[in-house]
Amino acid sequence: MAPSDSTRTETEQSAAQPAVGAPSAAELRAAAQTDLGERRADARPAPLQTARGMEARDVLAWYGASQALKGISLPFAPNQVTALIGPSGCGKSTFVRCLNRMHEEIPGGRVEGQITLDGHDIYASDADPVTVRSKIGMVFQKPNPFPTKSIFDNVAAGLKLSGGKRVKRSDLRDRVESSLRGAGLWEEVKDRLSAPGMSLSGGQQQRLCIARAIAVEPEVVLMDEPCSALDPVATLRIEELIHELRQRYTIVIVTHNMQQAARVADSTAFMLSGELVEFAPTNKIFTDPDDERTEQYVTGKFG
Ligand SMILES: Nc1ncnc2c1ncn2[C@@H]1O[C@H](COP(=O)(O)OP(=O)(O)OP(=O)(O)O)[C@@H](O)[C@H]1O
Ligand SMILES: [Mg+2]
Repeated sequence: MAPSDSTRTETEQSAAQPAVGAPSAAELRAAAQTDLGERRADARPAPLQTARGMEARDVLAWYGASQALKGISLPFAPNQVTALIGPSGCGKSTFVRCLNRMHEEIPGGRVEGQITLDGHDIYASDADPVTVRSKIGMVFQKPNPFPTKSIFDNVAAGLKLSGGKRVKRSDLRDRVESSLRGAGLWEEVKDRLSAPGMSLSGGQQQRLCIARAIAVEPEVVLMDEPCSALDPVATLRIEELIHELRQRYTIVIVTHNMQQAARVADSTAFMLSGELVEFAPTNKIFTDPDDERTEQYVTGKFG
């Protein structure tokens, strides 16, 4: 059952609309063929740093007695972008929260199955959730900078909270700068690092949150509808950034925007009612899916 409207923010409600603009099959095919395939593979720069891959095996998740995931198995290849798509309430957010041990923080939240990062079980008895979350960072739907902190401190806070090694004060500035550069925000904020993070535009705030996530040098960045609160220009900027981030990180992105999945993702997984229906190269999902339900969803016939 999807959360009732009264429990969802306005942003979440608008983001829950399926298949933004319900593009036609021809439009999706065009988006996929423009951006994917050999041409785009050629245009993609080689990784600057080899990230680690993840693998989910038969992941089940519950909220109390209610089962939200019914056995999801998916590989996340290193330095690749994997999109998760599916109608509202199918379990996309639950699944990404399982991928960095955040689901267990929800009262009644329970996870079974296995999730590995570079072969290591992130749910092993000796795996520390705080360390896991520093290796598998998360960017949320709505930009959530720390409201009272400056631009600089928002990024530095990521380092302080990571639970990892303390960063020397002298190194902190360099780390903040490189993280803001990595998030494509440095040029816009370098002269006002002490201004409040909240003084930035929505798109800049989201890039600030990406800077905060990458400051701790994660292996994987999870993004749950990172553009749903942004205008088209800010959205495009984040999509370009995702292309750059994949040179260093493994990326998992939840999106309701079919064209966005077609533009940014190497592989796409279609979920329905807590199950995985189909996982394939994005081009195939949008142009020649095996499952009829995938075809119907990507062409906006149901949501
Ligand atoms: N905190 C919660 N407590 C109880 N049930 C929840 C909670 N969060 C989600 N659920 C339920 O789990 C199921 C999966 O929800 P989830 O938020 O993962 O879906 P989603 O695919 O991310 O949806 P959307 O596209 O609307 O964001 C839904 O039935 C939802 O109602
Ligand atoms: Mg969600």
